[in-house]
Amino acid sequence: MNIKKVGVLGCGLMGSGIAQVAATAGFETVVLEQEQRFLDKGFAGIDKSLSRLVERGVEKGGITAEQKAATLARLKGTTSMKDLADCDIVIEAIIENAVEKRKTYAQLDMIVKKDAIFATNTSSICVAELMTATDRPERFVGLHFFNPVPMMKLVEVVRTIATAPDVFDTAVAFGEKLGKVPVRTVDKPGFIVNRLLVPYLLDAIRAYEEGVGSIADIDESMKLGCGYPMGPFTLLDFVGLDTTYYITHVMYDEFKERRFAAPPLLKRLVLAGWYGRKTGKGFYDYTDPKNPVPGKFV
Ligand code: 3HC
Repeated sequence: MNIKKVGVLGCGLMGSGIAQVAATAGFETVVLEQEQRFLDKGFAGIDKSLSRLVERGVEKGGITAEQKAATLARLKGTTSMKDLADCDIVIEAIIENAVEKRKTYAQLDMIVKKDAIFATNTSSICVAELMTATDRPERFVGLHFFNPVPMMKLVEVVRTIATAPDVFDTAVAFGEKLGKVPVRTVDKPGFIVNRLLVPYLLDAIRAYEEGVGSIADIDESMKLGCGYPMGPFTLLDFVGLDTTYYITHVMYDEFKERRFAAPPLLKRLVLAGWYGRKTGKGFYDYTDPKNPVPGKFV
């Protein structure tokens, strides 16, 4: 199947990043949001990210000013689902909530042409639970991207028990065309990355709760001792504590293992509304975003 037009549902952090890489890769791309103000916010982020890539320069993996202009020309925002009717693939990146996602897919299924592929960027929800909201389960896959999407090279391509082999192959080839490295995986909570990453992040919180080290020292240890680009608490704040907390529920529910269970401190930070970078406070305080100050919670 030849993919020419890409639809993206949601222009938040992940949706805007996915739309950006699709348009940069040469696809006509249309992004759906509920309200114009969400599109405006997402497009401002895309503009900023493209400018950073222009500053970076082509030699270091960036883009030219002409490529930025061509990318923006291929990108369209809309608040009407009808504008996605002739898309060849639609990638959903809305709120991580199965009920909301199913509702959206049911509407989409009636509007988008029958041979289009539906993909979800969910990080933890069972893909089979989403595909059954449509009449095209064989044309349904997971395409799981990583934050920040323009920088992270990986995309997990997820096959369900119903995905047709040619649809899966098309999704893998599409991931390559986006300039990503696709890995093939199956519909099990967390896929590959979060299956390994989430227990590590939760262990870091437990180590802190047990007094093994301060937030700053645990972060520094994993950066300098293991060469990770961010320590676990910086990464937790970057991913979002609410998102992580949600993922732990889905994973714990499936596996019933302590390593996927949310530590008490994570729950309390989420209850306080301290979700990390996006709310200005999480394990760190981002009042001065260039100089985050670690919290003291135990
Ligand atoms: N768009 C364009 N360029 C960007 C960018 C963006 N969104 N974010 C960073 N960059 C560029 C910067 O401009 C800079 O470019 P330069 O080298 O030309 O100056 C370069 O990337 C490096 O950025 P910084 O100097 O600001 O900071 P870092 O060196 O720390 O890199 C990072 C930033 C790429 C985010 C790096 O810290 C990193 O890889 N962190 C780990 C991220 C990670 O693990 N993500 C996965 C999260 S898990 C997930 O998403 C799954 C979900 O299901 C939970």
